[in-house]
Amino acid sequence: MQATIALLPGDGIGPEVIDGAAQVLDAVAARHGHALTMTRSLVGASALRAGEPPLPAGTLEACLGADAVLLGAVGDPEFSDGPRERRPETALLDLRQALGVYANLRPAKVWPGLEDGGSLKPEQLRGLDLLIVRELTGGIYYGERGRTDDCTEAFDTMRYSRPEIERIATVAFESARGRGKRVTSVDKANVLESSRLWREVVTDVGTRYPDVRLEHQLVDSCAMLLVSNPHKFDVILAGNLFGDILSDEAGAVVGSLGLLPSASVGGSGGLFEPVHGSAPDIAGQDKANPVAAIASAAMLLRHALGANAEAAAIEAAIGAALDDGLRTADLAADGQPPLGCRAMTQAVIDRLGTGAVSS
Ligand code: IPM
Ligand code: MN
Repeated sequence: MQATIALLPGDGIGPEVIDGAAQVLDAVAARHGHALTMTRSLVGASALRAGEPPLPAGTLEACLGADAVLLGAVGDPEFSDGPRERRPETALLDLRQALGVYANLRPAKVWPGLEDGGSLKPEQLRGLDLLIVRELTGGIYYGERGRTDDCTEAFDTMRYSRPEIERIATVAFESARGRGKRVTSVDKANVLESSRLWREVVTDVGTRYPDVRLEHQLVDSCAMLLVSNPHKFDVILAGNLFGDILSDEAGAVVGSLGLLPSASVGGSGGLFEPVHGSAPDIAGQDKANPVAAIASAAMLLRHALGANAEAAAIEAAIGAALDDGLRTADLAADGQPPLGCRAMTQAVIDRLGTGAVSS
């Protein structure tokens, strides 16, 4: 196989975790005889510092020309108060839209051996395996927004169209078919009109999937159930904002946001990124957990390149490293010396090919 991957390390811990993910991709490619070309481009604050806009034209071009994009993180306190066109986060929103990746898949599972590390009791966590399907290119993130001239009022608009809801609901039902056959659709239909349409359309789409059990859950109660009875859920289908909030919560439930990968698909290629942010407080200190980025690389292999065995080999290697008790700082027990980002990456590479199918 031959493929081009656009790497966008970005800000904060982004470069460290993307270095780790790229090393793992190189190792997998070497083992399986694939030719992966990886290019690197600036995005976010790293682009702003180089005198470029947050999403430079060259970066967008590299992404559009690649088979897939792997991004670290964007966000930097230095630029957080700037105008919209000079904020690192704008790059990510524009990139998602330009790639048309409306379906954001965020699996959250408890790795064996980490049942003691989450926010819940081990018996509540054992075997937990959720998939959040988050709508990514619509809703309040992209609605009309503004301020009054005197800046005493500001507004954002939550707007969803029937086709937008239909296509993301279809992704959720299709995903559920390959898993636990349950979809929980999240909304705030007791208050918001956009949520009432969301519920109607999801119900309609659900009639085409009689083998999948559909439940509707108000977002506030979903947030509560996620920390009291997470096994209730299989696939959680949510709009852009609710999905963003619930996925951070899911990260805490399974032990650390540093474990959660994501795949954004639906358009051309695909955009793959850890769910965590740029964590400026620990940037550049070799303290970040590379697992979310490495697992995002595995999702890239599976979803963008169809390399299922290679993806499974990476996931098995992550599992083996965690099972051996290796822990980065976010996961280490009190008194346990944590592994750095580089050492954890190497531990995963050392375990590639153990216990996994290979082609
Ligand atoms: C995420 C992030 C982004 C989002 C930010 C950085 C724009 O929080 O991917 O979850 O809100 O989508
Ligand atoms: Mn988020």
